[in-house]
Amino acid sequence: MIRRADLNDADAITDIESRVFRHPWKKNQILQELASENGKMVFAEIEEKMIGYIMVREINNEAQILNIAVDLPYQHRGYGKKLLQYTLGELGTETDVFLEVRESNLPAIKLYSEFNFEEIGVREQYYSDGENAIVMQKKAIEYGLV
Ligand SMILES: CC(C)(COP(=O)(O)OP(=O)(O)OC[C@H]1O[C@@H](n2cnc3c(N)ncnc32)[C@H](O)[C@@H]1OP(=O)(O)O)[C@@H](O)C(=O)NCCC(=O)NCCS
Repeated sequence: MIRRADLNDADAITDIESRVFRHPWKKNQILQELASENGKMVFAEIEEKMIGYIMVREINNEAQILNIAVDLPYQHRGYGKKLLQYTLGELGTETDVFLEVRESNLPAIKLYSEFNFEEIGVREQYYSDGENAIVMQKKAIEYGLV
């Protein structure tokens, strides 16, 4: 089941963050994002236990995927794909979607490519440990004259 996250979910998200990432978001950053007007966060749960989430910021027809994570025991079982599919469905085809991903994160890059995200640039030393970020975009469908 996938549903929208709220402030009560901050602890569960913080726990997964700290298990899954080398440089996890802190609880206060997660709370800020949950409270933000432009922020959207959805998560997947099994038997009322959160197993993964995705954070998105959306302004006008542009969205930024800030973070996606699936808890360790549940990875590679299709949940990341389901979360992304659900979120892209909610954003609709008229929204440009952007994200940054560590250039070493091949599983995530592969996942995004499967959803037609394309590499549009590199941000040198974007992360605090000096790693480059790949910038990816999923273009909105352009309606025009044929
Ligand atoms: C990236 C992540 C969200 C994917 O979620 P997931 O539930 O594990 O992925 P899924 O089972 O839905 O697999 C989706 C696709 O991702 C890719 N993938 C997932 N795990 C992979 C792995 N270990 N190796 C290679 N590709 C992998 C594959 O393309 C896979 O499609 P396929 O099964 O048809 O080959 C998850 O692995 C994760 O939380 N990773 C750590 C956090 C992270 O790096 N987040 C991204 C930050 S930008």
